[in-house]
Amino acid sequence: MNISVIGTGYVGLTLSALLSKAGHKVHCIDVVPEKIETIKQGKSYFYELGLDNLVKFGIDSGNLIPTLDYEEGVKDADLVFLSVGTPSGEDGGWDLTYVYDAVASAAKYIKDGTIFIQRSTVPVGTGKRAMVIIKETNPDVKFTYLSSPEFLREGSAVLDSIIQDRIVVGGDNDEAKQKIFDLFEEIERMADKITEETPEIHEYACTYIMNGDHKEGTFKDKCVSTCLESAELIKVCSNTFLATKISFANNVARVCDQVGANVNEVMNGVGLDRRIGRSFLYAGLGFGGGCFPKDVKGLIRSTEDLGVDASLFQQVYDLNMSQVEYVVEQVKDMDILPPTRIGVLGLAFKPGTSDVRVSPACRLCQSLARAGYDVVATDPQAIEESKKDYPEEKNFKYVETTEEVFKDADLVILATEWPEYKNLDYSKYADAMKNKAFFDARNCLDRKKMEEIFKFDNLGA
Ligand code: UGA
Repeated sequence: MNISVIGTGYVGLTLSALLSKAGHKVHCIDVVPEKIETIKQGKSYFYELGLDNLVKFGIDSGNLIPTLDYEEGVKDADLVFLSVGTPSGEDGGWDLTYVYDAVASAAKYIKDGTIFIQRSTVPVGTGKRAMVIIKETNPDVKFTYLSSPEFLREGSAVLDSIIQDRIVVGGDNDEAKQKIFDLFEEIERMADKITEETPEIHEYACTYIMNGDHKEGTFKDKCVSTCLESAELIKVCSNTFLATKISFANNVARVCDQVGANVNEVMNGVGLDRRIGRSFLYAGLGFGGGCFPKDVKGLIRSTEDLGVDASLFQQVYDLNMSQVEYVVEQVKDMDILPPTRIGVLGLAFKPGTSDVRVSPACRLCQSLARAGYDVVATDPQAIEESKKDYPEEKNFKYVETTEEVFKDADLVILATEWPEYKNLDYSKYADAMKNKAFFDARNCLDRKKMEEIFKFDNLGA
């Protein structure tokens, strides 16, 4: 098939590369020349496990064609996937400028029978508006519009796009919907081949499947066919529900801090109830990234616009945004007085990515610096991106190595639970510190072992 994918972020580039691997001719379109140039060289412009290999394969085979030109990109397309960014707007809702611009730009050149598939996270009602734009731009063309939201996680974008845990397609053309289900089944059938060819994904795939994330059942069991509006809501509600679980765990952690209970133990017990589940009940610095904060805010905005009470969603958001300040207060309670040098391990919003959008770790560094501490921070992948979004200040500097984080520090904080930090032999680093104190803001280290080395604290334990 001739396929066009508009937007080359985590969603778009991963999908383009996989579709080209399956043998389809894929034009991936973006409006940023530097991004297209990098992809043409056979690599991704952001870090994502296993993606470079796939992009290189697509470019070398000639199946993946990066372009800035909408006409070239969509004129022969049977399918047009839309996966452009939907950042937060000034009013807290989604800014849909890129979505509607992309729809209008593509609509000019499409042929009869083209199927549009919306993959970006958008508020309910976007599809209806998009269809009006297509009709206004190209009144004579026959087209179908579907919503098929993406559920991939950064850091495992490739694997999540190969083996999806559900495929939601909303719209009113059953034949077109089946084409999309078939396409994703074709991708899933390549799972073994791709994981064999790309050792790093293979390694991850083993852990992933062993962890029980991978569901049994046939592909058909995972296909969810809905109306357009339901599909749009499924994505936003999934993210907001997961965010709710995290804020719930963080709220419980605050209770635990007051009574000497251990939030990990509490959540282990709660999570064993199959109706609840253990995942996304890990207390810590809170959720960040390009999705949860934006999507919860977006749902609040669109709920209020519909005249419906959004206070539950608002609480989830507010508690999350106050979690960094809560940790700063906990650190102050450790009685290590300023001027104090604090080393921070981790900057990315979660392990496995260089993304620092709304990163709780970066926000923590800024908050500590503003509270008068002298802060140095490092990360295995995210230093360059952090420097752009959170520039160095007089008492906030980036360092390249773990050693530099510990050197002369009065306190070290674990802010992003990268495996290399979880598995560090801390006894080897502690001697370089001025004052041996440690705060685990991700609740992922063994308290007993850490207490043998440091004056130690964490959240709700
Ligand atoms: C999230 C969803 O998990 C994906 O399903 C969805 O497709 C994606 O948003 C999106 O909308 O595009 P992602 O933002 O990559 O994926 O990250 P997650 O792995 O979900 O983590 C989000 C944040 O929650 C991170 O900051 C993480 O540290 C935090 N978190 C997660 C916790 O604090 N506690 C937990 O128990 C789980």
